[in-house]
Amino acid sequence: MFQPSVYKKRRDLLRSMMNGGIVLLPGNTEAAMNYADNTYHFRQDSTFLYFFGINQPDLAGVIDLDNGQDYLFGNDVDLDDIIWMGPQPSLKDRAERVGVTITRPFNQLQKLMDEAIALSRHIHFLLPYRGKTTLLISKLLGIKAGHLSTYKSEELIRAVVALREIKDSGEITDIESMIDVAYDMHTTAMRMAKHGVVEREISGMIEGIALQKANGVSFPVILSINGQTLHNHFHGNTLKEGRMMVCDSGAESVMNYCSDITRTVPVGGRFSQRQRDIYEIVLAANVKAIEAIKPGILYKDIHLLSARIIAQGMKDLGLMKGDVDNAVAAGAHALFFPHGLGHMMGLDVHDMENLGENYVGYDNEISRSDQFGLAFLRLGKRLREGFVLTVEPGVYFIPALIDQWNEKKMHKEFINYDNLEAWKDFGGIRIEDDILVTSNACRVLGKAIPKTVAEVEATMSV
Ligand code: GLY
Ligand code: MN
Ligand code: MN
Repeated sequence: MFQPSVYKKRRDLLRSMMNGGIVLLPGNTEAAMNYADNTYHFRQDSTFLYFFGINQPDLAGVIDLDNGQDYLFGNDVDLDDIIWMGPQPSLKDRAERVGVTITRPFNQLQKLMDEAIALSRHIHFLLPYRGKTTLLISKLLGIKAGHLSTYKSEELIRAVVALREIKDSGEITDIESMIDVAYDMHTTAMRMAKHGVVEREISGMIEGIALQKANGVSFPVILSINGQTLHNHFHGNTLKEGRMMVCDSGAESVMNYCSDITRTVPVGGRFSQRQRDIYEIVLAANVKAIEAIKPGILYKDIHLLSARIIAQGMKDLGLMKGDVDNAVAAGAHALFFPHGLGHMMGLDVHDMENLGENYVGYDNEISRSDQFGLAFLRLGKRLREGFVLTVEPGVYFIPALIDQWNEKKMHKEFINYDNLEAWKDFGGIRIEDDILVTSNACRVLGKAIPKTVAEVEATMSV
């Protein structure tokens, strides 16, 4: 955890950014897997963590915007709990570690809300993404669960995004330590990527590294020789020479900061000519995007830059044709690159996605495109110093998409469908790094994970 003053300062900043009322921030509860006592790995709510820092279930924080007071609601353990869980710090002690002095039993939260409602005070809350939190807020505020969305606080969402999107040095250090864990995960995966190995032998090994060295993975491991499926969580294939293995994985710290890295390697450790051809295109899109990132630039423009590099590369291979700028403007490259270049990262791997992607990645200046491909760009707005984001271009040969576009003669002036037939068994390649926007450019965070063809082949040969 950070020093108590860090959490207090964050709450005071929030107060200075909002017009008044009361902020209700419930933490998460345990979630039952198949019966109440057999729970999923506990994951605290990230906004609760940001302002109240405590990585334990059954808590709620309240920030009074008018009288300067912060409250922590929760229960102390009783003897029955101590028998099963061992001694636990008191609620008061836990609150002190995040600079909160007012603590109350959880069941008094209703009373505080009732008082605020009686005085017609504005109670700001974020739209919950879990059933139990939905029921809690619904009961506390007397709003039907299905209507919470209407009453969520846009003022609070915007203030939380404005605070959380700028990472301070403590947060960056924690994120970088998770990229160093990802280094171990990815170099281990590279060395294990041999003909005959089953994917889950590798995915299990690297998840183990995340558990040994951190608080586990930051999202379910994506590891597959079918990289053309963008988020492939099936780990039952046997690796074969001739296939590329996509590994998209990262770790989460005990404070819940994340890493999110993708590397794609040839099974067996040597790139064939055709694998190298596609790899170098994706690598150039990754490297040139990183070179162009600086404060003040629209991330949408960085996305389009990488799209043009991909379209040019595909044209050079005879898979696209025509004017590259026109092809990208029309969205033809999205046959091969059907997702966005990246997203914010922090306490969530897709940072703050639960607050609404358009509040995080777009603003009054720029709104989301509805063009296939570009529409999936999670972050389009102008970059600012202190943003942490991913740069993750990819090229994929998705047989069902190729067939559908071919049938509909989509963008036929830009795509060489005849030449594409021979590539439908290729799979996909993605290369993803986590970067920090600095005062005049950007910095790739963490230990450099093998990325060039030579670095990947050298790593896989030992
Ligand atoms: N790990 C999922 C993503 O890269 O967005
Ligand atoms: Mn990823
Ligand atoms: Mn990502």
